[in-house]
This record gives sequence, C-alpha cells and structure tokens, in this order.
Amino acid sequence: MAPRYSAHHLLLALMATLAGPVVLTEGIVFHVANRCPFPVWPATAPNTGHPVLADGGFFLPPGKAKRVAAPATWNGRFWARTGCNFTANNANGACLTGDCEGRLACNGSIGLPPATLVEVSLHEDASKGSSYDVSLVDGYNLPVAVSTKPAAGSKCAIAGCAKDVNAVCPPELQVTVPAGGGGGKKAATVVACKSACLAFGLDAFCCRGKYATPAACRGSVYSRMFKDACPAYYSYAYDTTAATAPGCYAQEYVITFCPNRWGAEEEGVDRAAQI
Ligand SMILES: *[C@@H]1O[C@H](CO)[C@@H](O)[C@H](O)[C@H]1NC(C)=O
Ligand SMILES: *[C@@H]1O[C@H](CO)[C@@H](O)[C@H](O)[C@H]1NC(C)=O
Repeated sequence: MAPRYSAHHLLLALMATLAGPVVLTEGIVFHVANRCPFPVWPATAPNTGHPVLADGGFFLPPGKAKRVAAPATWNGRFWARTGCNFTANNANGACLTGDCEGRLACNGSIGLPPATLVEVSLHEDASKGSSYDVSLVDGYNLPVAVSTKPAAGSKCAIAGCAKDVNAVCPPELQVTVPAGGGGGKKAATVVACKSACLAFGLDAFCCRGKYATPAACRGSVYSRMFKDACPAYYSYAYDTTAATAPGCYAQEYVITFCPNRWGAEEEGVDRAAQI
C-alpha cells in the first residue's frame, strides 16, 4: 500500500501547487466576507506575541470576501469598521465605528469601542482544538457569524443576531451621527450601541471589584437586551450562555459580517469575488 499512499500525497502536493498559495499544515485561512448592503473596513489585531494579519485592516465592498492567511496558532480579534473616509482628516478618526487611529491599516492597534468583536484562539494540535466567540462586552456595531469551511458540525458555528441591536438600543447607550440635511428634523442615525460597562464604567456592569466573579456579576437589563437580540454572543463578561465553539479545529474559518443580508438571497462565500 505504501506506493499508492505516496502517489496520493504527490497528487495532493501537485493540486496544491496548481491551486496557488494553498496553506496546508503550516497555517490556516480566514475568509472574511461582507454581506452588508454597504462597504465595511474589516480590521484585525493580534494578541501579544502574535503577528499582524493583512496589515491589520482593509476595505471590503458589499458582496466581497477576502482571504486572510494566519499561523495555525494565531490568537487575536476581528471586527468591522463602518462609515470610513480616510481622506477627510477628521479629528475624531476616519470611521464612524471601530476606528483605529484614523488609519486603513490598523497594524496591530485595536479599534475604538463599541464594536462587535470576534475573539479567536487557535491551537495547532487538533485534539486540543481551537476556540472562538463573538463579544458585545464593549458594545455592538454590526452582526457577524463565524463558521468553518467545510461546516464541520453545528457546534462550530456562531450565528448572527435575531434583531439589529442598533434598532433596539436605548438612548443612553446609543452612538449616533446626525442625519444629513432635513433641517435637523430627521432623527439621528444609530451607528453603534455601547455596552453598559462602556457607557457607565460601573463595576457591577464591568464585572470588576466585588463583582469580579461569575456568581457576583449576573448581567443587567442592558446585557439582557443584547442577549435577546444576539443570543449566541457574550452579552457581558461572565455570560455563561454564550457560544464559544470549543475544539473546532479547521483549516478554514469564515467570518461573515451581516450574515442575513436584508431582502437578498443567500450568497455563498465561494461565489463572492475575492479581492
Ligand atoms: C471624504 O472626505 C473628503 C474630504 O472631506 C470629501 O471630499 C469626500 O467626498 C469624502 N468621501 C466620501 C465617500 O464621503
Ligand atoms: C507597524 O507596526 C510595527 C511594529 O510596531 C512598526 O515597526 C511599523 O513601522 C508599523 N508600520 C506602519 C506602516 O505603521
């Protein structure tokens, strides 16, 4: 059987060569997809000791996906920035949400909250597995779904939201931009929703001080609003009901911003053009 085994390996190697820079055992791939009906500027920041991926940020038009290669043991975060204009020289940053020092390439900097965060912790050892989650601990700007490719079982998928948090965000948590024109009669647009921790900075909301244990930090009316809209996400720091996709070893992960594109047919990442 040995000759057939090596021929098979040779064929795999040849296919990998023909397909271009396919990363097999030495790394993994994130497919970052934008199904929002508007452009987003995805961003990524590594945890200490891990490399910056894709310069830390890039432009992604609606319907497009980008392949981001990473080491098999990468740890860090992804988020999406919205409403960016890098030529405007605005003192408040270039993006309405998720801004990183006004730059397109965040180069390792984390973004300004509030922004929905995909937190990734990969292990090379398939038996140990990898884990990831979606966190609203610092607030929300967009819905995001995470899965593996091929979809390796439902426990590896983290679903998007049942409601748009920005639409149900109470005034005290809202991040708004003024409506353009209309003589101030039109309501401001809610572009993000702060967590109660971010908005009020209280230990009870942030699970700090005497609230620094799961037993003492039980969530709030605000975290329950997040939970109701996005049941799979962390709604506060000690949210034990969040999906964490533990042990989901894969070579390819799919991070989809706005997974349910309103009114449009579902479009596979395979068919989305890659940039
Ligand atoms: C970005 O800002 C510049 C300078 O203010 C402006 O001229 C341009 O129209 C803006 N671009 C967009 C897409 O809003
Ligand atoms: C990116 O960050 C690295 C490490 O901090 C730094 O050496 C490099 O100059 C930065 N690049 C840009 C374009 O800012």
